[in-house]
Amino acid sequence: MALSVVIMAAGKGTRMRSARPKVLHALGGRPLLEHVVATAESLAPERCIVITGHGAEAVEAAFACEQRAFVRQMPQLGTGHAVQQAVPALPDDGITLVLNGDVPLIRVATLRALVDACAGTKLALLTVTLANPFGYGRIVRTDEPGDADGVGAVQAIVEEKDATPLQRQITEVYTGILAAPTAQLKQWLARLTNQNAQGEYYLTDVVAHAVADGVEVCTSCAQDETEVLGVNSPMQLADLERRLQRRHADALMDAGVRLADPSRFDLRGTLACGMDVEIDVGCVFEGAVTIADGARIGAHCVIRDAQIAAGAVIHPFTHIEGASVGAGSLVGPFARLRPGAMLGEEVHIGNFVEVKNSTLANGAKANHLAYLGDATVGERVNYGAGSITANYDGANKHRTTIGADVHVGSNCVLVAPVRIGDGATIGGGSTITKEVAAGSLAIGRARQVAFADWSRPQKK
Ligand code: UD1
Ligand code: MG
Repeated sequence: MALSVVIMAAGKGTRMRSARPKVLHALGGRPLLEHVVATAESLAPERCIVITGHGAEAVEAAFACEQRAFVRQMPQLGTGHAVQQAVPALPDDGITLVLNGDVPLIRVATLRALVDACAGTKLALLTVTLANPFGYGRIVRTDEPGDADGVGAVQAIVEEKDATPLQRQITEVYTGILAAPTAQLKQWLARLTNQNAQGEYYLTDVVAHAVADGVEVCTSCAQDETEVLGVNSPMQLADLERRLQRRHADALMDAGVRLADPSRFDLRGTLACGMDVEIDVGCVFEGAVTIADGARIGAHCVIRDAQIAAGAVIHPFTHIEGASVGAGSLVGPFARLRPGAMLGEEVHIGNFVEVKNSTLANGAKANHLAYLGDATVGERVNYGAGSITANYDGANKHRTTIGADVHVGSNCVLVAPVRIGDGATIGGGSTITKEVAAGSLAIGRARQVAFADWSRPQKK
């Protein structure tokens, strides 16, 4: 049966107390709405309609794509009013699945089960039983056990603010997700009123209309409460973030990755690990990161869009972005690999060394306080402490090429564009502006002068 998905994302998110539209707040490094849209699209629906309103331009710009239709809800008069806006874009048959843009971790299998339960004839509600149901719409049932579960039939959903003290004790709550026969849903939507505590058109009131029409209302219970938790406040967002990170951590540990502490691990993208990978506490992985067999990541590293080859060791407090680290290399502590840093095998990058858009061949070393930008560094080069490539003349960037087995002393400035031949030696403290021939020694510094028996000025 044809499936349409409507995602509600127009609300202001008042409780976030933020200028940013709620659904653009990040969870696991991606906007809340992106999680929902990706899950919805994996159901391969015939259409996916996103209701926007508060911050509509920003939300639509973030999610523009051919398969997605946006419908504006202005002003925002409630969840029922939101779905009403989608009615002209919905066909007259099939099933409509309504999702909440602020319930990000819902799983595909759960949605499939809900759509199956609807079967094009029933109103199917996704519910969950929560120890603390505060703030959620409560599922109100008849007293007489009706169905096979021995519970009464669903009569209505009552919002927290409209509930009687007795109803507030109900722990079975509505998750904000339902599936309904599209034709009937349209009729129920047309009958909604805003006679309630919040003066809003509640989508949840379609339940009472379905009951009045004699349409069966069934419930499908989410097994895992994490997947149906909504984000309404920074506290709930942080709670869900930890739950999502625990899911990531568990999946990695199942695959053999040794995390020093799964509660101090953050993945905001994808992380593919080989065998015997060890990750210490406090690391953040962003974008697409791969870590090969036996590599170790020290504490508090931030690694984004990077490939770490087998056996490499990244020492603590290292920052890596858009870079690759060759097998057996050692990086850090306190090192920074910027985009385009490509390290070969057994390369050593030590503390306070920054590498940008540079290739370091096998066995090259820059162990302390150095900068390599726009450089090609040969095999086994030893690049001294405090040395830098002066790659920028204020207008353009230039390349520095350093041959194999070059020894660059401490505190050198290699003014690009410049080439240093294989096996050359650069004396410490040199400023190199001209090509250095292979095998030669180049020194570019003021000669040392000495004044014997020098008497220092005396304070008057
Ligand atoms: C809603 C449900 C509640 C349920 C809870 C689950 C209603 C009336 N209540 O309450 O029963 O337990 O979700 O999380 O549906 N939105 C719009 N336009 C609007 C108002 C809201 O698009 O005019 C969107 C919001 O952006 C959000 C979603 O609808 O994505 C839910 O709105 P929210 O205000 O968070 O509803 P809740 O109070 O959480
Ligand atoms: Mg909500």
